[in-house]
Amino acid sequence: CGIVAYVGKRQAQEVVIKGLKRLEYRGYDSAGIALLNEGLSVYKKKGKVTDLEQHLKGKALNSHIGMGHTRWATHGEPNDVNAHPHYSASGKFAIIHNGIIENYSSLKQELLNKGHKFLSDTDTEVFIHFIEDIKEHEQCPLDEAVRLALTRVVGAYAIVIMSLEDPDLLVAARKGSPLVIGVGKDEFFLASDATPIVEYTNEVVYLNDQEIAVINDGKLSIKNTANLPLTPYIQTVDLELEAIEKGGFEHFMLKEIFEQPRSISDCMRGRLDAQKGRLVLGGLREYLAKLTNADRILIVACGTSWHAGLVAEYFFEEFCRIPVEVEYASEFRYRNPVIREGDVVIAISQSGETADTLAAIELAKSKGAIIFGVCNVVGSSIARATHAGAYTHAGPEIGVASTKAFTAQLTVLNMIALIVAQKKGTITEQKLHELLVEMETIPAKVERALKLNDQIESIAAEFKDARNFIYLGRGYNFPVALEGALKLKEISYIHAEGYPAAEMKHGPIALIDEEMPVVFIATNDSSYEKVVSNIQEVRARKGRVIAIVTEGDKLIPKMAEFVIEVPSVHEALMPMVSVVPLQLLSYHIAVMRGCNVDQPRNLAKSVTVE
Ligand code: G6P
Repeated sequence: CGIVAYVGKRQAQEVVIKGLKRLEYRGYDSAGIALLNEGLSVYKKKGKVTDLEQHLKGKALNSHIGMGHTRWATHGEPNDVNAHPHYSASGKFAIIHNGIIENYSSLKQELLNKGHKFLSDTDTEVFIHFIEDIKEHEQCPLDEAVRLALTRVVGAYAIVIMSLEDPDLLVAARKGSPLVIGVGKDEFFLASDATPIVEYTNEVVYLNDQEIAVINDGKLSIKNTANLPLTPYIQTVDLELEAIEKGGFEHFMLKEIFEQPRSISDCMRGRLDAQKGRLVLGGLREYLAKLTNADRILIVACGTSWHAGLVAEYFFEEFCRIPVEVEYASEFRYRNPVIREGDVVIAISQSGETADTLAAIELAKSKGAIIFGVCNVVGSSIARATHAGAYTHAGPEIGVASTKAFTAQLTVLNMIALIVAQKKGTITEQKLHELLVEMETIPAKVERALKLNDQIESIAAEFKDARNFIYLGRGYNFPVALEGALKLKEISYIHAEGYPAAEMKHGPIALIDEEMPVVFIATNDSSYEKVVSNIQEVRARKGRVIAIVTEGDKLIPKMAEFVIEVPSVHEALMPMVSVVPLQLLSYHIAVMRGCNVDQPRNLAKSVTVE
């Protein structure tokens, strides 16, 4: 979910609605807003922020304070009633909440016994009733009631509360879900990330876990749940407005796919220079020895970031000779994993907010592991929870399906591995130089791959009505097959499976008939001949082969129905190039099927609940 709040001289409605649109990537099942004019008014609607806007049309809603929410449903189906904000029992307070209250049913029972009535099925409504109940019982100010409530609430939250009695008061708190405070001149902004804020100010305070912020009469104060006052630490965010707008592209996803040559070079800038033999990651230095001496590397991540981890597994093992295990954060955190001294954890997350990844980090930390973070969002929870790390610097990624963040993650992970390999002496200087030179060619090669856009669009037209897809690859291209399949299912709702090409004969081959599109990532690498045999196996069963090959391939065009040629590059770096046509293929198919590419159904960009 995304939350945003404002207090100051501007029209709150405008700031909040605009902010919600920027945060919509975090969830779009419903949207709502609370404003203070004649009373404390709440307006909410199932659906997108534009549906809420329609609903507000024609209403005169003067208010200098307000807050809004865009929801990714957890408790209760997405409908008007379950949308946020929610009122307290008396209607004097309203709350917006991102996260989950785990012990809400016992709190709810307690309140039901006291005669409380609830309108919605949400944990959030219970939360605000609970806070008000404490306030009345203790006869204390709102912020104190919030603090007391938080000592009893189990779960993850970022909340903002408005009060009918205090027209200049916003009380906010966080644990586990992000919250940024924008500090303007006589005005304040609160939001799940900085994107709704940067238009007005670049001075921000990142609220930490267990902290409560009180904005009252134009002043900000922060304390923690133990009631210790804290000094707000104001930082400057470096985010250009144009980076969060579509800039002429029809969708954010397409813009982000096309940004990759730039985002990959941004990621390498100042860090890698093959000519000068330079390869440094500033954030790594302090703990580099830990990584170099690691007995084992554990990579934890979810979704596309997990796929980047799989590519890194091949890369690290090949060049650093360190065993690597890649784990779904959600599995790792609940299975009492073995973490030994000498193990190093790398957590990969675009948003830096994924709840499962964050929990996996905390678990590994509690067992004494050193954790490196590879995040895209600067100042995000994971970036702050890790001991060291490197940002991917891909710029804001807004399309829900991850594209440029993936290639930037690969860029950073490759750099980390090469630094370690160099330190360990598991790579020769010559090989290292070769790879650095190749890395520098990637942006131009991705640029060339993007030129395939029209060809891929026509292939998409051919297959847009398919009901299933299989993606196959080997070696470095196996995770690319997984990523290609994920992209397709995420945005076009076509069922797709990614598989190691050789494993196909142990199951998926049964699915192949004359209607089945099979995408092979068959670039010219050490498993090329094996993949060619796998293509034959599919052809023998009349599957329709679409092959991603290296430019100039003579053999595969004779076997495949469609061939997409990408520039040649060292096999360990190929995923950064070979994934590009797959991103485009899924994009065009989704557009042709009339799907909402940037906001696919049921998904959210940043999953801050487990
Ligand atoms: C969500 C997004 C995916 C993303 C995954 C992990 O499911 O829809 O695109 O790969 O979360 O997100 P992270 O921010 O941790 O990389």
